Amino acid sequence: MSELDTSRISPTAHYTGYVWCRHGLSPAALCTATGRAMFYALKGPIFAASLALGGMTLEKMLLQRHRIIDHLLDEAIADGRIGQIVEVAAGLSGRGYRLAKRHREAGLIYLEGDLPGMVARKRKRLAQLSDRSPHHQVVELNALADQGPDSLAQVAGERLDSQRGTAIITEGLLNYFPEQDVQGMWRRFAQLLAGSSQGGMYLSDLHLDDHTLAPLPIRIFLKALGIFARGGVHFHYQSEGLMRQSLADAGFAGARLHRPGEHREKLDLPGSSGPDVIGIVQAWHPGGDGDNGVCP
Ligand SMILES: C[S@@+](CC[C@H](N)C(=O)[O-])C[C@H]1O[C@@H](n2cnc3c(N)ncnc32)[C@H](O)[C@@H]1O
Repeated sequence: MSELDTSRISPTAHYTGYVWCRHGLSPAALCTATGRAMFYALKGPIFAASLALGGMTLEKMLLQRHRIIDHLLDEAIADGRIGQIVEVAAGLSGRGYRLAKRHREAGLIYLEGDLPGMVARKRKRLAQLSDRSPHHQVVELNALADQGPDSLAQVAGERLDSQRGTAIITEGLLNYFPEQDVQGMWRRFAQLLAGSSQGGMYLSDLHLDDHTLAPLPIRIFLKALGIFARGGVHFHYQSEGLMRQSLADAGFAGARLHRPGEHREKLDLPGSSGPDVIGIVQAWHPGGDGDNGVCP
C-alpha cells in the first residue's frame, strides 16, 4: 500500500451512506448492505454514549453537518457565487446527485472525487438512476496527490470552468489524517481557488478541541472509529483562532466556523440539550479577479 493509498478509510463511507439514505438525503441505490449492518451494530454503543450527551448521537451530528453544508451550498448557488462544486472524498453521499439535479437548469457542474475502489462502486450504483444531471461526474481524485492524473489540479484543469465560482467540499475526511496532511489538502484547495478568476469557498466539518470535544464519550467514540478505519483519528485545532491561522497559512483569504446552534431553527436540525459538538468551517478566496462577492 503506497502512502497515497488510504482506502483503509473507505468502509466508513458505507455507514454515512446508510444514514443519508435513512433520512431521504440519498437515493436507495446508494445504500449498501454493509452500511446497514454497520449502522445496527453500532446503534447500541452509540445510544449508551448519547445518554451522557443529552441525547446527541452520531446520526444527529451527521445530519447536522450534512444539512448545514447543503444549506451553505444552496445559498451560494442561488446568489450566483458558486457555479461548480468539487466534492473530495464524496464516498456514497447522495449530495452530488441531489444538488446537480436540483440546479440542473442553472447548469451546476458537480464533480465528485474519491479513491478508485469507491469511484467504481459509486458509478455502478449511480448507473441505476435514470434522472441524473448530465453535469454530474464521478472521478478518481486523491486528496493527498500534489500532481498526476488523480490530483485536484489535474482533474480540475480538465473538467472545471475557470470562469465560474467554485466550492470545494470535504465531509467526514479530515479526522482520519494528521495535521500535516490536512495542511497539504488545504494548500491545494486554496491554490485551486486562487488560480480561478472567480475564486470560491471551501466547506468541511471540523471538530475543535475547545468547544466540541470536551465530552468524553465523543472522544472515545471517534477513537473507536479510528481503530475501525485502521489509522487512528486526529483532532487538529484547539480553537477557532488556530484553525483560521492554519487556513490563512494554506492561502485562504478568510474563514469562519458555523455551529449547529446558529442554524438549528431555520434548517430544522436535529438538536440536543447539550452543547454543539461539531462545526462547519467555511473558508474563501476571492480568486484572480479579486472582489467578486464570493467572500461572505
Ligand atoms: C467517512 S467517508 C465520508 C464519505 C462522504 N463524504 C460522506 O460524508 O458520506 C471517507 C471517504 O474518504 C475517502 N478517502 C479516503 N482517503 C482518501 C484520499 N486520499 N483521497 C480521496 N478520498 C479518500 C474514502 O474512500 C471514503 O469514501
